[in-house]
Amino acid sequence: MSHDDGSGWSAAAFLRDFAQLSTIGATPRGGVDREAATVRDGMARAWLGGWLASRGFAVAVDGIGNQFGLLDLVPGAPYVLAGSHLDSQPTAGRLDGAYGVVAAAFAAHRVAAGARAGTVRPTRNLAVVNWFNEEGSRFGPSMMGSAVFTGRLDADEALRTTDPAGVTVRDALDGIDGRGGPVPLPVGSYAEIHIEQGRELEETGDRIGVVTGTWAARKFRFRVLGEQSHTGSTRMADRRDALLGASLLVVEARSLADRFAEAPLHTAVSQLDVRPNSPVVVAAEVRANLDLRSPDPAVLDAAVHRLRDVAARVEAERGLRVELELTHSWDRDDYTPECVAVSERVCAELGVPARRMLTVAGHDSTNMAKVVPTAMLFVPSREGISHNEREDTAPDDLVTGVDVLTGVVRELVTAPGSGPDRQPWTPASTG
Ligand code: GLV
Ligand code: MN
Ligand code: MN
Repeated sequence: MSHDDGSGWSAAAFLRDFAQLSTIGATPRGGVDREAATVRDGMARAWLGGWLASRGFAVAVDGIGNQFGLLDLVPGAPYVLAGSHLDSQPTAGRLDGAYGVVAAAFAAHRVAAGARAGTVRPTRNLAVVNWFNEEGSRFGPSMMGSAVFTGRLDADEALRTTDPAGVTVRDALDGIDGRGGPVPLPVGSYAEIHIEQGRELEETGDRIGVVTGTWAARKFRFRVLGEQSHTGSTRMADRRDALLGASLLVVEARSLADRFAEAPLHTAVSQLDVRPNSPVVVAAEVRANLDLRSPDPAVLDAAVHRLRDVAARVEAERGLRVELELTHSWDRDDYTPECVAVSERVCAELGVPARRMLTVAGHDSTNMAKVVPTAMLFVPSREGISHNEREDTAPDDLVTGVDVLTGVVRELVTAPGSGPDRQPWTPASTG
């Protein structure tokens, strides 16, 4: 399955190049640390730019740091765009996002070689993308670059966002030479491949997940406000302990997940910021993130309702103020049925066992699916481990994924005039 077309493609070349990228920001336990717009992210972006330029792609960067490699095959035609993200969580796995970018680069290069050799008859152009700041760990929200590209988030608002040290996205991007100007790219369709980050494929033995839809998500920032006092001398009855209030909400988030039996509900509180965070001081203020997800919007709404009730009770019973701010959300959306059909056809032709599934994690494709026909594929994740340096996928599965993505991109690039991409999307302005 893995030799063809004059592009120099081989499974070994893919695995070698991916291993080389994984040395950038490598951590001692086999993962990477490449948070958005850090020096290490800049190095990964430079590596990708070099890879693309040396294979004839025109490299362009838009105003929010999305990095593109363009290959014109049919002047004036819309582009089939494929990619994912190179940024990572701190101490992350090496595959989350980066696998999809390198897979897309290889897939586009293989399809273009087929076009040059006359075995592929393109009706569309080809582009690869590394979306800026998918993770949202340093700057919120997640999926920032694709949100700006698709008009869901204002470019200036995104550029003004600050990290915990007060550095803006604009300054951080400028610091790595990571900000360009408008890239008026008419996109006809989008394809992304990613590790599953769950254990469904491993359990069923299927090699590819064809994503038909996404779970819904609600992310809140909450603030608990109490009063600073002495941990030893203040009478228990006099305390207004913000950390106690936050802890009650942490525990409530976990119990919510057990409470709703009708549909799965995943919840977590992450990233506590305790102030003043000093050994002999009862906390005056705690800020935290709360993340709730479900495939059933009614369950998600009921969980949020219950959470607001519990927050009101914590306020009343503990003498605190609790503020809940919805910072990021998406609904239970479907991917394009025609792209599901294309993906399944390619898997069948290659003899790769595939199953339909929903994505639980958010992806840039979640944003893209709102504006153009979008194909989303998964490869198995060992033990479902992700956002962890131990994240892993068998090399054979990684290579199979590149083969399937190549087939999908080839189908989209050769689609007839009446193909899935009837109304190309051009970003208004990301300059
Ligand atoms: C990704 O950004 C997610 O929130 O799942
Ligand atoms: Mn990802
Ligand atoms: Mn991630």
